[in-house]
Amino acid sequence: MTQALSVGITALGTYVPSKVVTNHDLAQLVETSDEWIVTRTGIRERHFSAEDEFASHMAIHATENMIAKHGSAVLDGVDLVILATSTPDALLPATAAIVQNHFKLKAGAFDVIAACPGWMYALSAAAAYVKSGMAKKVLTIGSDALSKILNWEDRGTLVLFGDGACAAIVEAVPEGYGFKSFVLGADGEGAKHLNMRCINTTLPDGSPLTEKVSMNGREVFKFAVRVMSSATREAVAQAGMRLEEIAYFVPHQANFRIIDAARSSLELPLDKVVSNVERYGNTSAASVGIAMREALDDGRIKDGDDLLLVSFGAGLSWASSVLRWHVKTF
Ligand code: UT7
Repeated sequence: MTQALSVGITALGTYVPSKVVTNHDLAQLVETSDEWIVTRTGIRERHFSAEDEFASHMAIHATENMIAKHGSAVLDGVDLVILATSTPDALLPATAAIVQNHFKLKAGAFDVIAACPGWMYALSAAAAYVKSGMAKKVLTIGSDALSKILNWEDRGTLVLFGDGACAAIVEAVPEGYGFKSFVLGADGEGAKHLNMRCINTTLPDGSPLTEKVSMNGREVFKFAVRVMSSATREAVAQAGMRLEEIAYFVPHQANFRIIDAARSSLELPLDKVVSNVERYGNTSAASVGIAMREALDDGRIKDGDDLLLVSFGAGLSWASSVLRWHVKTF
């Protein structure tokens, strides 16, 4: 899918729960060590939501953070809420509708389930709604509380994930800014490598679905390294650009080894890579947004910078995009 859209992100906020869980804390629960986790993943700590804190609460906090950063006018005229999550508060209603109600928005609201790249899928949908004229201003959220669905006895998954949320406004931007390409991909053959049951107990091929997240880490690792670099190249080519023109590579924060392998195969210098996996672990649909916000806050990302966003996850699925950053004053 190629689109030269004058639609982009004009505001961004994030949230992580206050509870910090270190590798040492997890080593009290399962047979693991800080050394193993740091060496294999680059993760040192992550944030876990409180028992009574769910995706909707985190989404609302991320939206409040966006208001604090950009001003209260930021929500004026929002006519659609799209919320990406793999951990919705409920199957019905959509978590997006809970957010809509909290802020009393005169807007439609729906959820997107597309695992870790969910927020990027949501951004692509938001951009398409705005481009088509069906919506003017879309509150586009990624919120995941993976800690709620992890198997606390499985060291292979427990150490990887954290909770968090990001909230963005997607709307028209001046010509030349905004999303320059979107690449969306899925390969359902890989469903067996990363999944969790909901209503059914098996996949169509009879593979069992488990009560909590289960993953074949090695298979996902190989897929991730391959797709992070291929999807990056594709998004850059669709934007009619060269890799060297990308100011910052903002990848899904799953594992620093995956990020670094992709960086190396793309021959990108380390200082162009935004990574904070060390402090948050894999926050699923929120991870690209949280990384991007951090690079905005520390002054790395500036008006006019071309960013490459890329994510992957269960499905197996992936998404990438080139976004020219636009600073808007509300
Ligand atoms: O959004 C997408 C989410 N998923 C991912 O991004 C996951 C991608 N995969 C990975 O990041 C890596 O495959 C892992 C970090 C999950 C595992 O790293 P690895 O280098 O691929 O290790 P491995 O699975 O090959 O396991 C090596 C050993 C095994 O022991 P044996 O069989 O060699 O005796 C594991 O049982 O490490 C063991 N192991 C652990 N040891 C200590 C697995 N998890 C742990 C642990 N602590 N937490």
